[in-house]
Amino acid sequence: MDSFVYYLRSNASPTRKGDKNDKNEAEANGRKHVAPRLTRPSPKRQPHSLLFLPNFPVPEAPLSDPKAASSDPKEAAKRVVGFAAVDRYVEPGMCVGLGTGTTAYWAIVRTGERVAAGEPLVAIVTSAATEKLCGEFGVPVIPFMARDIDVAIDGADEVAPDWSLTKGGGGALFREKAIAIAARRFIVIVDDSKVVDQLGRFPTPVEVVPFTLAWVQRQIAGQFPSAKATERIHDGRPYRTDNGNAILDCAFGTIPDPRALAGALQAIHGVVDVGLFIDLADAVLCTAGEGVRELTRL
Ligand code: 5RP
Repeated sequence: MDSFVYYLRSNASPTRKGDKNDKNEAEANGRKHVAPRLTRPSPKRQPHSLLFLPNFPVPEAPLSDPKAASSDPKEAAKRVVGFAAVDRYVEPGMCVGLGTGTTAYWAIVRTGERVAAGEPLVAIVTSAATEKLCGEFGVPVIPFMARDIDVAIDGADEVAPDWSLTKGGGGALFREKAIAIAARRFIVIVDDSKVVDQLGRFPTPVEVVPFTLAWVQRQIAGQFPSAKATERIHDGRPYRTDNGNAILDCAFGTIPDPRALAGALQAIHGVVDVGLFIDLADAVLCTAGEGVRELTRL
């Protein structure tokens, strides 16, 4: 946490990719402004800014939701950031990328409430599990690329000061990354336990074509002798992603250079995707006491 550079800014509305400032910046750089983009530009400027939103209004959880009755403070924190992200970034008529996991769950709930209130929102989902939840909460789902994604909202397993993320604890990393890349803005929602000085406490999920599993494990052992790459097991059976692939949970210890590690892993034949998200997040909403902290890029 200490290595984040914190600035207090006014509680202004967030700017969007494709907003005037982006356009001016693009024109100043001699580029034609085209949004959305399907590949990400080179790393953005450091340092990061921090916008503290201590009194972010969060509506009450619907009593019909069994999770709303939970007295677990972590569950309450997840709800706060999930609701805050939707209320801060989702505007009527938008197409929203919806993430996977227990924090993204609350963004789905809130999106459902807004649809029920009459807003014409649609979602593009990161997993079959999220599609099912959208069905339960009345959020219309459209296929990937059927529309441009205005904003994607998703959880993370770790967030580091260089804006790198670990994702894939729920096994949805491949589709999550596709949606994060394609979205105009990608908003990460976490409770403050996920904000770390360096990635690596959480094992890095690596999605692998099952045929090549042993090969990939051998390559990782050769390149990273102190790492431990363990096949994910679920309900006593090898876990399979929505794409039919296996997951290796790789304990590397602290990761000083996530970009280099992601590149080395991605280069191994059989690796489909790596749960390291580099330079994709546009903002992080994180619980802070009673409120929500927002980390945005300067
Ligand atoms: C799923 C993910 C999740 O976003 C990540 O695992 C965080 O999940 P949770 O909010 O349940 O802690 O990457 O693949």
